[in-house]
Amino acid sequence: MISVRNISKSYGASKILKGVSLDIKPGEIVTLIGPSGAGKTTFLRTLNWLASPDEGSVRIGDVEISAGHARPRQISALRAQSSMVFQHYHLFHNKTALENITESLIVVHKKTRAEADEIGIKLLIKVGMQDKMHEYPSRLSGGQKQRVGIARALAVEPKVMLFDEPTSSLDPEWVGEVLTVMNQIADEGMTMVVVTHEMRFARNVSKRIVFFDDGAIVESGAPEQLFQNPVHERTRQFLSKERFD
Ligand SMILES: Nc1ncnc2c1ncn2[C@@H]1O[C@H](COP(=O)(O)OP(=O)(O)OP(=O)(O)O)[C@@H](O)[C@H]1O
Ligand SMILES: [Mg+2]
Repeated sequence: MISVRNISKSYGASKILKGVSLDIKPGEIVTLIGPSGAGKTTFLRTLNWLASPDEGSVRIGDVEISAGHARPRQISALRAQSSMVFQHYHLFHNKTALENITESLIVVHKKTRAEADEIGIKLLIKVGMQDKMHEYPSRLSGGQKQRVGIARALAVEPKVMLFDEPTSSLDPEWVGEVLTVMNQIADEGMTMVVVTHEMRFARNVSKRIVFFDDGAIVESGAPEQLFQNPVHERTRQFLSKERFD
């Protein structure tokens, strides 16, 4: 489903990604873990060309782009393959939960309001937010906002869902409900790439964990293998500081 070949990316003089390659199968749930500044967000952003790599190529589904040869039409095609959920929701404050979902369906995807509402309501039911569909974000909890963010990301029917620390700005009491929705999406067979510090999710839901450090993949493996028998000392050190409860 996803094939990343040898991508590199610099910001100014700093090389942030140093030749990263990764293949992800349809329906696979991959978590990316690693210290702050390792390049996890940057990597995720190269998957939809929000950050354009200097070298290498990205393929999602049947859309492939190589660095230096990206045409606007190819970039739009690549972006249509995936949908991203951010740490800080990025909801429109002046729109209701439902309108946050229907806006781009109407404006970008040229759905009628009735069609968009039908999709939006269905998705709000899926994330357990049907009771709040006419509320504005300021009246929603962090967990509820993030569930709207997930519903909005699903609305465009992506092949792949990209999550960048979707629970890390939440109070602990709201984390569970967001992880529950993510588990449900995983169970439905969605291909997911999840940057997270939630080791429970990494261990219980993902099939593969990729440990990132200093712009490169240090090692990757099944959760039990990586958690119990990390090969590299850097992985060991990182895991020793994480909480697993
Ligand atoms: N747009 C940008 N311009 C310049 N430097 C950037 C930009 N985006 C990221 N960086 C730098 O790239 C490095 C990697 O950042 P990135 O956000 O990818 O790390 P991360 O692994 O997601 O970290 P965190 O766990 O803190 O979110 C950092 O040193 C950061 O300062
Ligand atoms: Mg990040």
